[in-house]
Amino acid sequence: MINRPRRNRLTPRIRALVGETTIQPKNLVWPTFVQEGKSQRTPIVSMPGISRLSIDQLVADSKKAFDLGVAAVALFPAIDDSLKNPEGKESVNPDGLLQRAVKELKKEVPELVVITDVALDPYSSDGHDGLVQNGQILNDETLPLLAAMAVAQAKAGVDVVAPSDMMDGRIEAIRWALDGAGFENVLICSYCAKYASAFYGPFRDALESTPKEGDKKTYQMDPANTREAIREIHLDEEEGADWLLIKPGLPYLDVIRLTREHSELPIAAYHVSGEYAMLKAAAEKGWLDYESCLMESLLSMRRAGADMIFTYAAIEAASLLQQ
Ligand code: PBG
Repeated sequence: MINRPRRNRLTPRIRALVGETTIQPKNLVWPTFVQEGKSQRTPIVSMPGISRLSIDQLVADSKKAFDLGVAAVALFPAIDDSLKNPEGKESVNPDGLLQRAVKELKKEVPELVVITDVALDPYSSDGHDGLVQNGQILNDETLPLLAAMAVAQAKAGVDVVAPSDMMDGRIEAIRWALDGAGFENVLICSYCAKYASAFYGPFRDALESTPKEGDKKTYQMDPANTREAIREIHLDEEEGADWLLIKPGLPYLDVIRLTREHSELPIAAYHVSGEYAMLKAAAEKGWLDYESCLMESLLSMRRAGADMIFTYAAIEAASLLQQ
């Protein structure tokens, strides 16, 4: 036998020399849930190890993440029900929870990249990402609300806005609004191919943001489709996106690869709440080794073509990588 692929696997050092894919803390983004209060950490039952954090706790954990080399934090606010209404008006409050969290983070950990979500659902009494009228999710009427939300976040000092709403035309609307307000250096990370996925369940528990009626299938993508993802990629590029995000991660590795082949833009993959919950649940039962399966999942998304990965396990993964 002349060809023995196993020679390249002989020792750890040889395997390291021929390893094609790497993962480092700088590839990781830590998504986090923020809530009101002081010294508050409220565990999320369906996401073991993850809590909603008051701003002081968010700052403390973000410092930890930054010291471990994690590149960025992505914030999701848990808004009190009394502040929710159909237009999600609280989203543009300069003193709203999210805006205060951004300001504190940029003051206390200025080099950590801060990313905010742009969508109505945390603020909407309907629990949808856009305006609802007679059971329909309105597209064009939602755009100015999203644009105003992005500008409010930019005023608070955010580095990157990440529209996750899947309305048509929102990247362009947000880009024009940001530039018009003097924020041409705020980046847009577009949730470009975001699928209507059941893997978001634990996230909606965390924010109590499950839609009051219906589902998100008229705006989020059909899990059956990939050509549609290519169309979304091209549109978001033309509209001025800086990064393209694919979500969920592991069940959509083919879409990450396809995005890599169709775009030169940086790509983010989102290891979503349900993916995290599955690993934790199996590990709690003693059925999987959590740390190995976590690192293998993250590496797979890098191998598929993701530059960066949003994962609730960012701090755990970064500390494993430092060992
Ligand atoms: C909502 C939003 C969702 C997630 C990120 N932004 C949920 C949804 O679309 O219902 C899901 C993240 C996760 O499951 O980890 N705009």
